[in-house]
Amino acid sequence: MKAVLVKKPGDAGQLYIGEFPTPEPQDKEILVKVKATAVNRADIHQRKGHYPPPKGASPIIGLEVSGVVEATGANVTKWKVGDRVFGLLEGGGYAEYAVLHEDMAMPIPDSLSYEDTAAIPEVFLTAYQTLFWIGHLKQGERVLIHAGASGVGTAAIQMAKLNGAYVAVTAGSKEKLDACQKLGADLAINYKTDDFAKVIQEALGPSSIDVVLDFIGASYWEQNLEVLGMDGRHVLISTLSGYKLENVDLRAIMGKRLTLTGTTLRSRDRDYKVKLTQEFMDTMLPLFKKGELKPIVDRVFPIAEVQEAHRYMEANKNIGKIVLSVGELR
Ligand SMILES: NC(=O)c1ccc[n+]([C@@H]2O[C@H](COP(=O)([O-])OP(=O)(O)OC[C@H]3O[C@@H](n4cnc5c(N)ncnc54)[C@H](OP(=O)(O)O)[C@@H]3O)[C@@H](O)[C@H]2O)c1
Repeated sequence: MKAVLVKKPGDAGQLYIGEFPTPEPQDKEILVKVKATAVNRADIHQRKGHYPPPKGASPIIGLEVSGVVEATGANVTKWKVGDRVFGLLEGGGYAEYAVLHEDMAMPIPDSLSYEDTAAIPEVFLTAYQTLFWIGHLKQGERVLIHAGASGVGTAAIQMAKLNGAYVAVTAGSKEKLDACQKLGADLAINYKTDDFAKVIQEALGPSSIDVVLDFIGASYWEQNLEVLGMDGRHVLISTLSGYKLENVDLRAIMGKRLTLTGTTLRSRDRDYKVKLTQEFMDTMLPLFKKGELKPIVDRVFPIAEVQEAHRYMEANKNIGKIVLSVGELR
């Protein structure tokens, strides 16, 4: 089959379309003819050689996929050839074919396209898991979502609002802040022009946030601790600004009884991902069918333009997801 491969670890110019063996579906796996996949920050780290795939995963980049079942493993019971499915992968999405465990595949609702559904798995499952399983966000609580216009941010805003939370976000431009507010954010702060902790304090009072969903890390450490209230939860899922702290004052953690936690979805075991997918399918997928949740697709690039798609993300241009449509690969 054709797939997007990496000549040598480096910039987007290292991506090219080449030949790779077509994967074989094992026992409980399905072979999916890929119609669309999507770009994640992790893909850029993997391309640069900083984020190797977990043991046993495809070395091809791509954490999510939507398409049509082409073949099934010997013991697959849930799907048949021709079904339209989408789901989370451990790797292998940037290709003509990918394999998916049958319990990690979700049915594509009639109202949604392949491009729409390729934009859902990685960011919505991450946001769901971090807000509700790890952050224990409850109705009426206040959540601060950094990088609000990112793929994960746009998913998190929508699900937090639907669950009755107050949502504050940070982002780096007016266009991105407007998009966050359209999705339901109550307070949108430009971190480039304002001190977000100060703005939150003025709007909501001191120590007023219950959960921080943090992709930024080092540069926001002190301000995050400042805005978190009693029994607050800080959930770290990326360190876009850096990962080393100096002059750390630990007293707020005791004084406010804070929980500091973090996670990476890709390294979770199969059982965890299956449970997450199944719960998401039961609770959230019906809301996509009703139009109450929406995949936020910024741009669709043909996969032949994968280099451009990576550069677009690296320039922080996207609001929501960058999708790759996978037609015939040449
Ligand atoms: N741990 C996990 O399980 C997990 C799973 C999925 C994703 N993630 C991580 O979550 C993050 C978001 O992923 P995504 O695919 O949704 O990303 P994305 O759409 O590419 O958005 C990332 C945004 O972060 C902002 N940003 C970048 N550097 C920044 C900095 N130094 N300070 C403040 N803001 C900065 C930029 O927006 P502005 O223009 O607003 O600055 C950028 O557009 C990524 O870092 C990704 O690796 C983690």
